[in-house]
Order: sequence, then C-alpha cells, then structure tokens
Amino acid sequence: MGAYADFHRRSIENRESFWTEEARRIHWHRPFDQVLDFSKPPFAKWFVGGQTNLCYNAIDRHLDARSDQTALVYISTETDTERRYSYRELHAAVNACAAVIQAQGVGRGDRVLIYMPMIPEAAFAMLACARLGAVHSVVFGGFAAASCATRIDDAKPKLLITADAGLRGGKAIHYKPLVDEAVSLSKHPPEKVLVINRGIDKDFSMVPGRDVDYAEALRQHGSTPVPVTWLESSEPSYILYTSGTTGKPKGVQRDTGGYAVALASSMEHIYCGKPGEAMFTTSDVGWVVGHSYIVYGPLIHGMTTILYEGLPIRPDAGIWWKIVQEQKVTVMFSSPTAARVLKKQDPAYLKKYNLSSLRHLFLAGEPLDEPTHRWIHDAIGKPVIDHYWQTETGWPILSLAPGIEKAKVKYGSPGFPVYGYDLKLLRESDATEAAPGEKGVLTIAPPLPPGCMTTVWGDDERFVNTYFRTFPKLMLYSTFDWGVRDAEGYTFILGRTDDVINVAGHRIGTREIEEAVQSHANIAEVAVVGVADSLKGQMPLAFAVVKDASKLDTEAGRKSQEKEIMDAVDHQLGAIARPQRVLFVNSLPKTRSGKLLRRSLQALAEGRDPGDLTTIEDPAALEQIRGVLKG
Ligand code: PRX
Repeated sequence: MGAYADFHRRSIENRESFWTEEARRIHWHRPFDQVLDFSKPPFAKWFVGGQTNLCYNAIDRHLDARSDQTALVYISTETDTERRYSYRELHAAVNACAAVIQAQGVGRGDRVLIYMPMIPEAAFAMLACARLGAVHSVVFGGFAAASCATRIDDAKPKLLITADAGLRGGKAIHYKPLVDEAVSLSKHPPEKVLVINRGIDKDFSMVPGRDVDYAEALRQHGSTPVPVTWLESSEPSYILYTSGTTGKPKGVQRDTGGYAVALASSMEHIYCGKPGEAMFTTSDVGWVVGHSYIVYGPLIHGMTTILYEGLPIRPDAGIWWKIVQEQKVTVMFSSPTAARVLKKQDPAYLKKYNLSSLRHLFLAGEPLDEPTHRWIHDAIGKPVIDHYWQTETGWPILSLAPGIEKAKVKYGSPGFPVYGYDLKLLRESDATEAAPGEKGVLTIAPPLPPGCMTTVWGDDERFVNTYFRTFPKLMLYSTFDWGVRDAEGYTFILGRTDDVINVAGHRIGTREIEEAVQSHANIAEVAVVGVADSLKGQMPLAFAVVKDASKLDTEAGRKSQEKEIMDAVDHQLGAIARPQRVLFVNSLPKTRSGKLLRRSLQALAEGRDPGDLTTIEDPAALEQIRGVLKG
C-alpha cells in the first residue's frame, strides 16, 4: 500500500496544501482566503472566505460542456416510468422549482423541510434550495407524523414540500395526510406546504391559505429566472436528522464548500466515476447516502445519476442488473441488506444481464458479513467494496480508494482510513492505541476533514458533548463504533458502542423506540435491544413490564397488547422501528444501583452468554427472560 499510504499521509501532514489542491475540483465564485480555520477546536471551518454554491457546481457549471448529456434518469418500477433529464433540462426544472420556492418567501438561510417519495421533484427541491441558499432538511418518507413533527420543531422550516403519495410494492403511502398530522402536532408549523400532486391519492385535502399546488405555482412563477446565491463556504447547505442515544434526533449540519470539495474528490479517488458515465445509488434521498451519492456527488462530477423508485426484487430480482446493463452503469452503490435480499433469489437473474460496464459495486450503511461479501463479489465478478461512514461525516471514513491504488479486497473489512481522516483505534480503558487484533473505539482526531458535520443544528454544545467527550482528556470525535485492525492495516467494524441499532441500514436509537412503546397506556417499563437478524442485520426486540397484568391473562389478550404496542411504534416513529416482538416480563434485569443490564439482555436474546451477572439485583428477572425467549 505504498501509493495510498503516501496519499493518506500527505492529507494529514500537509493538510492545507492537500486540500487546496482538491478544492480545485469545484467552482469558486470567490477564492478562499484560508484553507482551514481551527482556532476554536473542535469546530473546523474549511475554505474560509471562499464563495460557492452546490447547485451551481452540480448543474450550471456543466452547461457548456454537457448540456445535452443526461444528468438524471428517473426509473420507477412502481409507476412503470422512465424519464430522462439532460443537464439543460435539469437546469430548467431546478430553476422553475427555485422560483416556486422563492415565491413562498423562502430565501438564504431559511429552512425547507422536504418529505417526499423517490421522484425527480425531490432532487429538484433539494437542488433548488441549494440554489437559493436555503437550508433543506429531507425527512425520510418512512418516518411517521410524530417524527416529522419533532424535526419541524427543531428546524423551524418556513416551507414544507411534499407529495400526495408514494408507492411501495404497488401500495400507496399517503404522504399528505401524514404531513397534515405532523403540522398539527408541531409547535412551529411552516407557513406554507407545497404539494406535488402525482395523481395517486384522489382525495387528499388542501388547507386554504397554507397549501400550494405545485403545478399551479409552476404555471405562475416557473419561468422567473433564479440566479445562484453565492454562499460563504461555511454557510449551511442542509440539516439531516440522525439518531443517537437520547430520544431526540440530532440535526447534523453540513457546510457548503467543504462538502462540495469532499464529494468531488471522493467521486474520483474512491468511486472512480468519470464525467459522462452513469452512477446508480439504490438508497433514498431521505438518507445521507442519497444526499451525497444520488444527488450532489454524481452531478458535481458531471455524471448521470439514477433515481430509482421501487423494490430490488420487483418485477423480479433482475431489475437492478437490468438497469446496470441498460444505463451502462459504471459505479453502483447499495447496501448489505439489499445484497442479502438478492442472495436469497434465483442466481440466474444475475447471469441474465451484461454487467460489463460496471467497474465496482460499493456497499455501506451497516456491517457487511463475510459470506455475503464473498457471494456478491463472485456473483457479479466485479470488485465489491465495503466502505464505512456515517450521516455525520457525509462521505466515507474507511474505504479502499481504487482511484489512488488498487488494493486487495478483504471480505468483511471496509479497508483503510480514508484520506483526510486521522483515525485512531483506542482502548476503551485508557485511550491508548489498540494493538493489531485488539478491539478498540474508532475515533477521529479533529479537525474533521471537509464534508463532515460542522455542528448540531442550533446546538454547538450538544455537538461537543455528544461527539467529543468519550475520552474526556482528549478531544477526539467518537464514531461510537468498535473496530479491530489486522496486521495489514485493514479495519473491521464490530458494532456500536452505544445504544444505536441498525435495521436494514436504517439507524435507530433504542431510546426512541422505548419512548414510543412507553406512549402505550399500559406500559410501566420497557427495554429495547437490537438482536442479530440474518436479513436485516439487526431487529429491535422489546421487553415490557405492564401496569395492568390482567390484560395478559389470555393468549388473545397478550397478542392484542403486543399489536397495540407495535401500532404505537408505527404511529410515533414509523414501521422501520417496529419491534420484531414484544415480550412481557415481570421485571427487567438491573444492577443493584438500578442500571439496566442491556448488554446481558441482548446477549440472551441472541443466545449468547450474558456475561458478568454478579451485580444483578434480581436473578429471577433473568430466569424469566430466558423462559420467554424460549417460549
Ligand atoms: O455503525 C456504523 C454503521 O452505520 C452507522 C452509520 O449509519 P448512518 O449514520 O445511517 O450512515 C450511513 C452512511 C453509509 C455507523 O456508525 N455502518 C455504516 N457503514 C458500515 C457500518 N458498519 C459496518 N460496516 C460498514 N461498512
């Protein structure tokens, strides 16, 4: 690993010259005066004084060279549609959307909440906000009204953009009524709600004075040209909420210049995409992967991006490979769960299509088990690169970087520290460096590189206290992941150090689920743990103590209580957070000082040894748990 090791070393030792060079990849309206301002650690400001704009870099900048090239292909197996937008057409569509948003009184620094299915208008809305210097906050369409309301209250958006409905496996998901409920639950409701009517839901209602029909607004304002608003590099581009150990999601705040540079650089060094080629990222715009590698990254790099609405196995398990063949995809990005889903299907689907255009398949978002890594690698006959990152970082932390040097893929490992990241694997006990083969906490010595979160929206203190206090004497960013490094320097991720679980690549705090379960009137106490699942990686499992045990007397009563609790989670958070089971117990296993023995609970649920139990208050609690798990 000579060339890559040198490249990485230069990014840390000669940080300023390294990033000055990388910053040439994007357009600066005004050049920056200072590469890095790290005068108030751990806060880092990149490319200080420089002015740029994400939308300009993603679209306008390409108009001379590639106005007729396809910028975005929308493929929906839900509506059987394929629509292509050239860079010129995308420019027009985004300009029109920006004009509509502007007409609602939105300007620089104002927040816009986007709650949308996977339709081109979702990307238009994000890019239009960027054009105006407005801060978008995309909320994943699978989240329930109450989750959406929490995010509205934190971001205080002036405008909310939604659609009548989404589709999943042919079933309509009604967005508009959900938005109505979220707005009514919210303490800071947006002034306007812009509704894209796809014609799926025939009878949603519009609130007079608040709701604006997108098609009508386009007719009225769509032809007004909207110039790009140049932002200082550190001005926020977006907020994206993510889960942690508390019940309250954090608003990850991203800057503008640093993010554009990091993405542009990763497109070449990590993803090896070339301008004019096609990239297919199978995520959703509601997640960080969708922000970075469906919308901004490929477009900034002058590629064609594919926005896919549908399931990986509908109409059949060949659909993604058909897209690769037809769109001549060179870079594909998906998730380990998707790979495991495909592994269960007939392998003939993989042989049916010509994948010769494909250079690499990248997977991220959750641990990629070795057998699945090996299987998909062999099945597609192309390098499958597992890479590791977080909503907070916005781009990879650990990866191979084939654009710099082709290193061997090791199954089950996301590879090496990405350039720009000064990673340290530390022993939890004394914060010293873990030896090869020894488990440690994966941390990053600040400054975090360009592209990473700059703070928690509206709460600098929370940023410092959440991420930089794991080792109190050292100001290090904690990823809250365990890792281990082998003798060749490959890192393997061993799971979270906190109470965050990962269900099919969706990051969920067990605390959030516990609060949702607790909203049920008969719950006295609850503990939610993540248990290993062969398809989704992890699944939440709830252990509940009820107030009125007579409701559990019959099997039917028990089932109905369980269903009510699951419905409460669906209603508060969304179906992605629904526990696999709710198991009723008389008490939860705690230490004598009242601390929940969460790890023991999880171990028992996974059929492992519960570990040291000498501090347990009531051994009978554990015995009962063993019993209900068997039953
Ligand atoms: O625990 C790690 C896991 O997912 C977390 C971040 O999730 P999220 O914020 O949704 O960002 C996903 C961006 C790709 C991490 O703290 N994780 C992510 N990628 C991997 C992973 N675990 C193991 N291997 C990975 N490749």
